[in-house]
Amino acid sequence: MDFLKPRYTPMSRRRKIYEGKAKILYEGPEPATLIQHFKDDATAFNAKKHEIVDGKGVLNNRISEYVFQRLNEIGVPTHFIRRLNMREQLIREVEIIPLEVVVRNVAAGSMATRLGIEEGTQLPRSIIEFYYKNDQLGDPMVSEEHITAFGWATTHEIDDIIALATRVNDFLSGLFLGIGIRLVDFKIECGRLWENDMMRIVLADEISPDTCRLWDIKTNEKLDKDRFRRDLGGLIEAYTDVARRLGIMAENEPPQGRGPVLVQ
Ligand code: TMP
Ligand code: ASP
Repeated sequence: MDFLKPRYTPMSRRRKIYEGKAKILYEGPEPATLIQHFKDDATAFNAKKHEIVDGKGVLNNRISEYVFQRLNEIGVPTHFIRRLNMREQLIREVEIIPLEVVVRNVAAGSMATRLGIEEGTQLPRSIIEFYYKNDQLGDPMVSEEHITAFGWATTHEIDDIIALATRVNDFLSGLFLGIGIRLVDFKIECGRLWENDMMRIVLADEISPDTCRLWDIKTNEKLDKDRFRRDLGGLIEAYTDVARRLGIMAENEPPQGRGPVLVQ
């Protein structure tokens, strides 16, 4: 099946479609596909804090591949086609809905701060929040009223997004619980995928320790990007631990990378 594999174009000759803080999208080898490239850049607080964490992109590529594959297997539609190499995956081109959809099971981060709830408090039920994806505005929280009034998504699409987010939460909570990790919260992005004249909402972007809060069940140790946001150190070791527990990396494989390097 080698003929199905895309031919590699040298990076410099590829058409860059979009560059974000942690990923780059390039034109794909076939129509309606893109290549999603995971960078080593770690940012927080709307990129006010920025470091290169050697090896992070490789780990997130592998972890996100694993999660998207498992979700595809249970019938959750995603943009993921296959991983191409250490840092890149082939994805379907979708129209990204400009929302960050956050699902919370346990109070932490901005919700704990905003509502004065102690971090680690189990929520009475899972809570879904929407943030408008706009770096200049610092991704403000919005309600369904804003989303429909400003035309970012229709009521029907919001229903589909909520159903998708709920399925992802149920599945991932179980997946992580099985490897001794509590899924505290996570962020997803959704896109519109057209097939002929039909459009459906699919899971896009990535799911990785950059976009989730993952706490060890026994020790509450943080195994996610809060290690960077809160200057706790050991980010690569934590992401490697998640990869190992998921069975992606061999038990004895050493963590990749040489630690963070400050970006001026
Ligand atoms: P928050 O508590 O800072 O609002 O974050 C909620 C979840 O969303 C947490 O798992 C981290 C994730 N997240 C992102 O993936 N990207 C972002 O830009 C932010 C602010 C949070
Ligand atoms: N990635 C976001 C940023 O650079 C924020 C975050 O994940 O905390 O600002």
